[in-house]
Amino acid sequence: MENTKRPILETVNLNKAFYLGEAVYAVNNVNIQVMPGEIAIIVGPSGSGKSTLLSLLGGLDRPISGDILINDKSIVKLNEDELALMRRKNIGYVFQFFNLIPHLSALENVELPMSISGMARNEARERARFLLDEVGLTPRSHHRPDQLSGGEQQRVAIARSLANKPAVVLADEPTGNLDSKTRDMVIELFCRFNETEKQTFVLITHDTSLTSYAHRVISMMDGKIEDIEVRPR
Ligand SMILES: Nc1ncnc2c1ncn2[C@@H]1O[C@H](COP(=O)(O)OP(=O)(O)OP(=O)(O)O)[C@@H](O)[C@H]1O
Ligand SMILES: [Mg+2]
Repeated sequence: MENTKRPILETVNLNKAFYLGEAVYAVNNVNIQVMPGEIAIIVGPSGSGKSTLLSLLGGLDRPISGDILINDKSIVKLNEDELALMRRKNIGYVFQFFNLIPHLSALENVELPMSISGMARNEARERARFLLDEVGLTPRSHHRPDQLSGGEQQRVAIARSLANKPAVVLADEPTGNLDSKTRDMVIELFCRFNETEKQTFVLITHDTSLTSYAHRVISMMDGKIEDIEVRPR
């Protein structure tokens, strides 16, 4: 059975270039697979294409060529509405710069994806409270993003990404602004959700201590995959 398992995420000859005078291939012929229930991490120097790859995987950006498969279904030809629905159903995303809604409180930011998905208000509020508690932010529930520290905003973004119990959580430097204690709390949370909810995590990190939790380590350099290390589970 194990050997016939299909990837939950896969790219095939994926390319993304930015044109500023000349073409910069931020993602250059990338082929990766992530299996269901894995914690995969993407490492590489600044500018190597990690955020660009993650936004392509999440359907937030479009490749110039190649394919992206989520549960064996290509997402590159979906229109904007279909992409939005695919994201809502499958993907939780933690942005490198958080992207919280400025006029909403921490609690309301976490509730929002559930309201959009049509969850009943009470249920959404209860789950938002639970998730904020999981990231240690119950005392900050009613603060707006500009009343929160960077690390607190990051944790709200993490709670929000988990709101709809997505099969795949894509997180760009989710522990980048956290002290070691808070970082350990977040890693423990990811590992626990990975175990109990069987959620797949793809994390970008500069933090080499995170590699010890990973089932797959994807190394990037100049837009290309330099190395993929699969760890026995
Ligand atoms: N919108 C854009 N327009 C032009 N070039 C871009 C754009 N976004 C990214 N790039 C370029 O693509 C390359 C990869 O950028 P990316 O943000 O994916 O790197 P990264 O690995 O996430 O870096 P970091 O660790 O600093 O976050 C860089 O050379 C960057 O300058
Ligand atoms: Mg980045």
